[in-house]
Amino acid sequence: MQKNTLYTILISIIILGILSYFVLRTTKSNTVEYIAITPIATHSNGMEFIDSSTCVDCHQKIVEEHYKTAHFNSFQPVNKNTIKGSFQKGENTLILNKDVTFHFVEKDSAFYQEPIFNNQNTPFYSAKMDIAVGSGTKGQSYLMWNNNHLLQLQASYFTPTDSWINSPGAPDQLAPARPVLERCLECHTTFVQNISGNKKGNQFHKKNIVYGIDCQRCHGPVQDHVKYHKQHPKDKTAKHIIQYSSLSRQQRLDACALCHSGLRTETTERAFSYMIGDTLKKFSFPDYDESSLEELDVHGNQYGLLKASKCFTKSNALDCITCHDPHKKERGNFLSFNQKCMNCHASLKKTVQCSGDKNNIEKMNNNCIQCHMPLVKSKTMKIQIPKGDEISVDVRTHLIGIYNKEDQH
Ligand code: HEC
Ligand code: HEC
Ligand code: HEC
Ligand code: HEC
Ligand code: HEC
Ligand code: HEC
Ligand code: HEC
Repeated sequence: MQKNTLYTILISIIILGILSYFVLRTTKSNTVEYIAITPIATHSNGMEFIDSSTCVDCHQKIVEEHYKTAHFNSFQPVNKNTIKGSFQKGENTLILNKDVTFHFVEKDSAFYQEPIFNNQNTPFYSAKMDIAVGSGTKGQSYLMWNNNHLLQLQASYFTPTDSWINSPGAPDQLAPARPVLERCLECHTTFVQNISGNKKGNQFHKKNIVYGIDCQRCHGPVQDHVKYHKQHPKDKTAKHIIQYSSLSRQQRLDACALCHSGLRTETTERAFSYMIGDTLKKFSFPDYDESSLEELDVHGNQYGLLKASKCFTKSNALDCITCHDPHKKERGNFLSFNQKCMNCHASLKKTVQCSGDKNNIEKMNNNCIQCHMPLVKSKTMKIQIPKGDEISVDVRTHLIGIYNKEDQH
């Protein structure tokens, strides 16, 4: 009898031990499972944006490279690092016309543009430059907050001349600041929320903004992805995220064409409503005749031009990512770009190898790009300079083809 009691007690202790082990284990992992992520903004569709610094833990290299790209720097609050125009004496003025001169002034770490009539001592107005649009590769334009109204200021910065300019398209008289519509912001930043909901409105929520073209602009919602991978650090297969490799060629092209196919007219949908994986033509259509190459400007329409190239029409895989690493600042890295041409051309039949003059090609260091994707002057991104001349930015055409046959053969 005594032996039996002892036996029961012993068994009970063992069972209790096993039970409490499991109970404790689940409670413990429950506390680990709670992962706090503080959203930095909320999309009108409910999606919450998180700071891209959250991605550093697992994608450090991509994040660091991304911060250097033109994409990320395309829309940023103005500070001494982001503003490209000069505030040095001798470089901080712009003569608008014979009566008015703009002065560019730095006061308490803030930056202002101030037009002064030549017969007066005080500025006509002093406008704070709050946001810089453009990484400064070709130029920069400045926006100002007036309460919740967002306005584009008259003076801009132009990289080819490294100077302040009157914005392209602005009159050569002092003009009122232009209202900025959500469509302008859609191509330059990740998210901005329109207050009135009216496409023509220029009032935005100052706090509900995600600056620059960030991870979530191209990858969509990521919260569940981050939570899952923090909970399962050993799982090295991407979960809860749209995979580019699972998209069709058109879906992949659309992800870039959203902003790289020139001006578009929106159909029923609102700005910022297209999401990765969607079909772009359901949201907007081009503002130009797609079949007329004459109408495509090299500035901002890489998609339209590429689509008309033989490399594109005669292959079934070529898209923007064939040549571009979307996370890297690659400007000027011709070695890497040329490698992309050769990778594909080497796999084609012999007749599509370069038939240009061997000596010339060697002289150009085998730089395929220089001859087949030459720099072309933009029809829209240009300014008038005093002597009546025009200066326009040079843009790499994406109509890959044979140019200047005579001088290169
Ligand atoms: C706790 C770790 C972790 C964090 C934090 C994290 N990821 Fe990931 N992510 C992974 C893992 C693991 C993979 C799969 C391996 C890989 O592709 O690197 C992955 C893959 C991806 C992929 C590739 C999907 C594909 O096409 O295969 C994208 C895009 C991505 N993550 C975006 C993000 C973004 C954006 C953030 C920040 C908002 C982020 N991740 C934060 C772990 C993480
Ligand atoms: C939300 C709009 C948007 C999307 C989506 C977008 N881009 Fe851009 N892209 C821009 C803007 C705006 C610039 C100009 C940035 C600047 O210099 O201020 C730019 C610049 C670039 C540049 C020039 C970079 C440089 O160093 O000057 C390349 C290359 C590029 N984009 C490729 C792509 C590819 C490839 C995709 C698709 C994977 C893509 N973009 C998707 C808006 C976008
Ligand atoms: C349809 C998309 C789209 C819209 C709308 C758009 N942009 Fe752009 N913008 C681009 C792209 C793409 C580039 C750079 C690529 C290129 O030069 O081909 C660019 C370049 C620029 C640049 C030069 C950037 C640099 O660093 O070189 C400035 C400045 C600029 N845009 C300002 C604006 C302003 C201001 C608005 C609104 C009033 C606007 N853009 C509307 C797509 C757009
Ligand atoms: C301009 C659009 C764009 C932006 C911005 C962007 N990505 Fe990507 N990302 C892509 C595309 C396109 C691919 C697919 C590339 C491929 O298939 O070669 C990709 C692939 C990835 C992958 C998987 C492949 C790899 O290279 O490891 C990860 C991880 C990733 N992105 C993370 C990020 C993070 C983190 C950020 C922000 C810091 C970010 N991306 C910003 C377009 C973008
Ligand atoms: C994904 C494959 C692929 C890539 C990448 C590629 N091409 Fe092509 N390219 C083709 C194909 C296919 C043709 C058409 C061959 C034919 O006529 O059958 C072609 C045609 C051409 C032609 C002849 C065009 C004409 O109008 O007659 C030139 C020039 C050319 N490519 C140069 C380049 C250069 C330069 C690059 C890099 C910037 C490049 N290609 C990248 C596949 C590619
Ligand atoms: C066959 C290779 C190839 C393909 C495909 C390609 N690009 Fe490019 N892209 C280039 C090269 C080369 C440059 C010039 C880079 C430089 O100047 O350093 C360039 C430059 C650019 C620029 C900057 C233009 C400028 O002169 O400022 C943008 C924007 C761009 N590409 C977007 C795109 C988009 C969007 C797609 C897809 C529709 C695309 N590219 C497809 C090779 C390619
Ligand atoms: C010095 C300028 C120059 C350079 C550099 C150059 N090409 Fe060419 N390429 C030409 C000319 C000119 C032609 C047209 C020759 C003819 O048909 O008269 C041509 C023709 C071609 C064709 C069409 C061939 C055909 O039969 O239709 C392809 C493809 C091509 N080049 C690819 C390349 C690639 C890839 C590179 C880089 C490795 C390159 N080219 C570098 C000038 C150049």
